[in-house]
Amino acid sequence: MDNLVNILYIVSFALFIYGLMGLTGPKTAVRGNWIAAFGMGLAVVATLIAVRDTNNWILIVGGLVVGVVLGVPPAKYTKMTAMPQLVAAFNGVGGGTVALIAWAEFLDTTGFSNFKHGEEPTVHIIVGSLFAAIIGSISFWGSLIAFGKLQEILPGKPIGVGKLQQPLNLLLLIVAVAAAVVIGLGASDGGAEWWWMVLLLVAAGILGLMVVLPIGGADMPVVISLLNALTGLSAAAAGLALNNTAMIVAGMIVGASGTILTNLMAKAMNRSIPAIVAGGFGGGGTAPGAGGGAEQKSAKATSAADAAIQMAYANQVIVVPGYGMAVAQAQHAVKEMAALLEAKGVEVKYAIHPVAGRMPGHMNVLLAEAEVSYDAMKEMDDVNGEFNRTDVALVIGANDVTNPAAREDTASPIYGMPVLNVDQAKSVIVLKRSMNSGFAGIDNPLFYADHTSMLFGDAKKSVGAVTEELKAL
Ligand code: TAP
Repeated sequence: MDNLVNILYIVSFALFIYGLMGLTGPKTAVRGNWIAAFGMGLAVVATLIAVRDTNNWILIVGGLVVGVVLGVPPAKYTKMTAMPQLVAAFNGVGGGTVALIAWAEFLDTTGFSNFKHGEEPTVHIIVGSLFAAIIGSISFWGSLIAFGKLQEILPGKPIGVGKLQQPLNLLLLIVAVAAAVVIGLGASDGGAEWWWMVLLLVAAGILGLMVVLPIGGADMPVVISLLNALTGLSAAAAGLALNNTAMIVAGMIVGASGTILTNLMAKAMNRSIPAIVAGGFGGGGTAPGAGGGAEQKSAKATSAADAAIQMAYANQVIVVPGYGMAVAQAQHAVKEMAALLEAKGVEVKYAIHPVAGRMPGHMNVLLAEAEVSYDAMKEMDDVNGEFNRTDVALVIGANDVTNPAAREDTASPIYGMPVLNVDQAKSVIVLKRSMNSGFAGIDNPLFYADHTSMLFGDAKKSVGAVTEELKAL
């Protein structure tokens, strides 16, 4: 039986990794997700076989039922736009579980002293459990705040205690680590008070709250990805303590992929992870002109009719979607407009910036929902060389990801961030409601360029109006 458990675990790891490979592209992502989910189901079965001699079947089955009842409905019915908060909640549950496992293991063995009924706890068991308790607790409470901000239960703007923030965070970390050291030393002597464990969990929990509260709502996707990596590491540490290979491998996969994703997002935003965690960015400043130097210029407004004519006679139109398309929920209208253009012989492509919107893959998900073909969605590196031979770039609620200042203006706060070369198209039409700035709170010289015209209004309404004009042409 033990051999069977090990074989099932190995098969489930293989499925996790194979499933993860599927997540690298939109065409294979759904299948990859199913494969990894099947692997996780197999790991659960293997674990049930491993604990077959237990007397706690009622608790185990009760836990499985609670998990299914709480997990399935939100996963099925949550809207695409609310996915970031769902991920935050699921991640929090993972971190909380790891912290509870570490706590339960500690209580079960009276402070590790008679671990596994008389056996001496080894160093890797003590360190693994304590690490899991600290990181799991930080991740649980941090994820709760991230969820609250994204769900708008808490204000999205940064909430901090000013200069005291960093010393306070350091103090909490020292308290949590000191409690862990006391428990660890006590464990090897054969006894440690349980309230040190409570102190550890409380200090780590407050640290989780304090770290995430000062971060602006719009930075939350990066923070969730970071917390996700931490949850993975804490699960791996708990797996080390429990001698459970499945937890170690799955935890390390989550830890590694979460770290890679966090880095990719930070790089695409040209920000460092410490700068994101330090907080204060993305507090919602929307005034135009900040740091842009283009205040003296004026932008040209256009009408739906002119935009329709310009596009109808183009050879190629590249649609550049951004956060505003998500806010306006304009994806279906965009697809309808593109179909009309294609019927007139215009080639329509979609340029996808890796951090357009507010979560990884935000634009891909919305466009896929509207059944835009994956082949028409072009990643930044593949499409950037095409703008200079494109007649019209149609920017729909995108701002920062099209800002040429990121390429040209060394004084710009987003200098160095890779952007879509929209300004190189023969003409540019920008759909947004006003001259307000985007997430980074800075002006965009693209809007004042001679070949750019602005179609003001809600993106869905503007696209609808252009579509009506196209029908009439
Ligand atoms: P933004 O630069 O944030 O610009 C979005 C624009 O949409 C705004 O300027 C806004 O202008 C317009 N808008 C809002 N509602 C609209 C509506 N109903 N109809 C039409 N337009 C509307 O978006 P972006 O270009 O997608 O760039 C994303 C930004 O988010 C980047 O700075 C990125 O670093 C950051 N970020 C991304 C992520 C990920 S993972 N995607 C994570 C964190 C941060 P008006 O108010 O004038 O309409």
